Amino acid sequence: MKEIRMVDLVSQYEKIQEEVDAKIIEVVKSTAFINGPEVKSFEKELQDYLGARFVKACANGTDALQVAMMALGLKPGDEVITSNFTYVATAEAIAVLGLTPVLVDSYDDCFNINVDEIAKAITPKTKAIVPVHLFGQSCDMEEIMALANKHNLYVIEDNAQAIAAEYTFSDGRKAKTGTIGHIGTTSFFPSKNLGCMGDGGALFTNDEEIYKKINMVANHGQSKTYYHDMIGVNSRLDSIQAAILRIKLRHLDSYCAAREAAATYYDKGFADVKGITTPFRKENSSHVFHQYVLKLDESIDRDGLRKHLTENKIPSNIYYPVPLNKQKAYALSMNDRDFPVTYKLCETVLALPMHTEFEQDQQDFIIETVKAFLK
Ligand SMILES: Cc1ncc(COP(=O)(O)O)c(C=O)c1O
Repeated sequence: MKEIRMVDLVSQYEKIQEEVDAKIIEVVKSTAFINGPEVKSFEKELQDYLGARFVKACANGTDALQVAMMALGLKPGDEVITSNFTYVATAEAIAVLGLTPVLVDSYDDCFNINVDEIAKAITPKTKAIVPVHLFGQSCDMEEIMALANKHNLYVIEDNAQAIAAEYTFSDGRKAKTGTIGHIGTTSFFPSKNLGCMGDGGALFTNDEEIYKKINMVANHGQSKTYYHDMIGVNSRLDSIQAAILRIKLRHLDSYCAAREAAATYYDKGFADVKGITTPFRKENSSHVFHQYVLKLDESIDRDGLRKHLTENKIPSNIYYPVPLNKQKAYALSMNDRDFPVTYKLCETVLALPMHTEFEQDQQDFIIETVKAFLK
């Protein structure tokens, strides 16, 4: 049996190696390393794929969030509502600008931000909501947009984990996640569903004025060369990464299909196993399975199970073991809120290997090894 990896980038690369290697050499020979034609072409192709009017590539998904908030003119003291059960980057981008992250609880089934909790957290200082499409499934964007419109708030979708997922509105209209709010952001970290071979990120918007601001912010606040109208940052996707992403974008739908097939195989394997809840599939969103996250009954010894998996050379992970409000850096201002769902999820979730390159014997072995521990 092939070695089991949390994410098998080796096998994925081997299938596109010839094309990727040739493209890298081509970019090296062109020396158009920064803002070269590959970047422009990638932005255009991603725009078409997502159905967004504008795409701006940048250096990583954390920068994308920061650039988004700077482009929207958010100021120190403004409150930004986001999920407590997410990767730290979401809150970090808010806090680093002197904005106040206001963390709220999640739904127990799909793990995404709870819209009723967002409504309760809105104050006169609230300026934006950052829903995170966790593990590959869309948040309830219709309700979130309605709330944002009612209170005149911006919505920045953190789409780092859900690129290619599709949200269905109540009238049947569909849109790719990241294209519904004022700005969508993503990460091309190598293990992401659309990952490059280094760092990368992007912002999407349908609003031309916001797009112009994003361009300025990401390029030192520059309106034309050496004229700086606002304080910005330097956040660029390099041409080699863009060239790799152009190749991988053409495979994105088949990568999602492979993840979906792997998830369905796991679901079937665990269907009759007591104490395990397989990932919930929402009606209003497709699931692109960035992660395959089980919920374990509290009676199950999660550490023991992980140890048993490790002994059998099966990697696993916990996304996320500590809620943001209990992280040292973020603990101070959040203490008066309660997060029963987040706390329980942090104690009970377990992510199994998930990627595009499974062989059936690997998944059979993972399923049987989990079952053996629970017997
Ligand atoms: C939800 C979420 N937001 C933001 C990021 C940050 O992306 P990057 O690592 O490219 O900065 C990540 C990356 O893991 C993420 O999962």
